Amino acid sequence: MMNAVSRAYVRGGAQALTSGLKASAVAVNSMANRQAHTDLQVPDFSPYRRESVKDSRRRNETAEERKAFSYLLVGAGAVGGAYAAKGLVNTFIGSMSASAEVLAMAKIEIKLADIPEGKSVTFKWRGKPLFIRHRTAAEIETERGVATSTLRDPETDDQRVIKPEWLVVIGVCTHLGCVPIANAGDWGGYYCPCHGSHYDASGRIRKGPAPLNLEVPTHEFPNEGLLIVG
Ligand code: FES
Repeated sequence: MMNAVSRAYVRGGAQALTSGLKASAVAVNSMANRQAHTDLQVPDFSPYRRESVKDSRRRNETAEERKAFSYLLVGAGAVGGAYAAKGLVNTFIGSMSASAEVLAMAKIEIKLADIPEGKSVTFKWRGKPLFIRHRTAAEIETERGVATSTLRDPETDDQRVIKPEWLVVIGVCTHLGCVPIANAGDWGGYYCPCHGSHYDASGRIRKGPAPLNLEVPTHEFPNEGLLIVG
């Protein structure tokens, strides 16, 4: 015979059992849903795999089996060798180009404002003396009036200057290479005391053993007051 408490306990147990069964049914259903595609077959790639790699625990022992690793080593060596060769060639070619010091010597910039009219200033350029002469109007007029037929090395004044007031010549006598003296000699240009060569204010040989005029180097006037030689 059951009392009221026992009946309530039994009823509660029945309800718990029922809800447990429902929960199990839901779980089973959801698993069934998740396992709906377990019938998919994993592709078998065995026919495409080499014998040597079918067993992942087996070591490669023959040269044929180690071919991939050998190729990798050779390839890495070739890339490293090519990179080293490139660096070597670059260094070698770089050593043949002119150094920064030489390049700096290749051109010389001269501020013309530092040279007063009537003066000839000597600079050192590429190991040689360089004469920059600021000519007066009288000198320009005189040199322009010289007949080339009277010259040993015929050149007009206009052929030797870019701007009439500036004469740019290399200060090496064309006889045997002495350095002439400025504002000296019979023509007031340059005089070489070694063997007595006289040059005019255009650097042309007028008397003495020197065969040629003083050399005019490549030069330009990029802007007012600046001369670049070289
Ligand atoms: Fe100038 Fe001989 S070197 S005259």
